[in-house]
Amino acid sequence: MNTHTMLHMLTETSPFMMSFVIVTRQNRAIVVDGGRAADMPLLKEYIGGRTVAAWILTHAHNDHISGFIHEFKTNGGADFDIENIYYNFPPYELIEDHAVPDYQYMVRELNECLPEFSEIEPLIRDKAHIAHQGECLHIDECRIDFLFSYHDGLTVNLMNDSSLVFKLTTPNKTVLFLGDLGPQGGDLLYRESRHLLKADIVQMAHHGHMNVGMEVYAAIAAETCLWCAPDWLYAEEEIPDYLADPAYLSPDPSRLRMYGTAVTRRWMEQLGATTHYVTKDGTQTVVL
Ligand SMILES: [Fe+2]
Repeated sequence: MNTHTMLHMLTETSPFMMSFVIVTRQNRAIVVDGGRAADMPLLKEYIGGRTVAAWILTHAHNDHISGFIHEFKTNGGADFDIENIYYNFPPYELIEDHAVPDYQYMVRELNECLPEFSEIEPLIRDKAHIAHQGECLHIDECRIDFLFSYHDGLTVNLMNDSSLVFKLTTPNKTVLFLGDLGPQGGDLLYRESRHLLKADIVQMAHHGHMNVGMEVYAAIAAETCLWCAPDWLYAEEEIPDYLADPAYLSPDPSRLRMYGTAVTRRWMEQLGATTHYVTKDGTQTVVL
């Protein structure tokens, strides 16, 4: 029996990604995402052969779930002892809906991971759960509340705005995971669930940039921030080149609320966050 719940935020082996291993007092693991194929050796090291009581896949982007897919394609996930897998991805059938503001973008989003994931889905069917907003899991001393899941109609930033948002509650701490939620998803999260957001620790949405609005972080009011960000991303300016181009921003006005990491870092300073763990500095371990 471990004395505390431990949270490990794994550093990048691939260019940037998101991967967490939470170890419970009963020495079971909860995995969030995992990163790419190149990130799998480090993930296996931190899981350390423990049973994975829950593997949560926040959303279907390469930097979050392509490692998971790779493992099942390679050997059916034989290197892991997984009990349950939770996710809620948008339906691929959206590809038939041409009446969206930016169809080509949506097609790229749908094709990034979903076709590959559907190939391995038969292999995980007996462990798979579609997680819905409002559901709650109990894993040893940990409670997980899903506060946001895919909403129909959020297509402009389709995959990021389908991120599962959930709160991990241990006997001592609360941690809010925002996945890669963007401005519009953040607006809905705030309107529907702002009274549930307060947490001690927050995983900064979308690696710290192009993410939810400041009011979401104000409602969370966390003292501690978890940044899945390499050097260049943590040091990013307010409006990087790729966010300065009106052609990229024009299909949807909510993209005008996408900023570089410097803006988010300033918000957190103004909101009084005092401690920052950043994957650029290596794997970060937090006692919960
Ligand atoms: Fe990401």
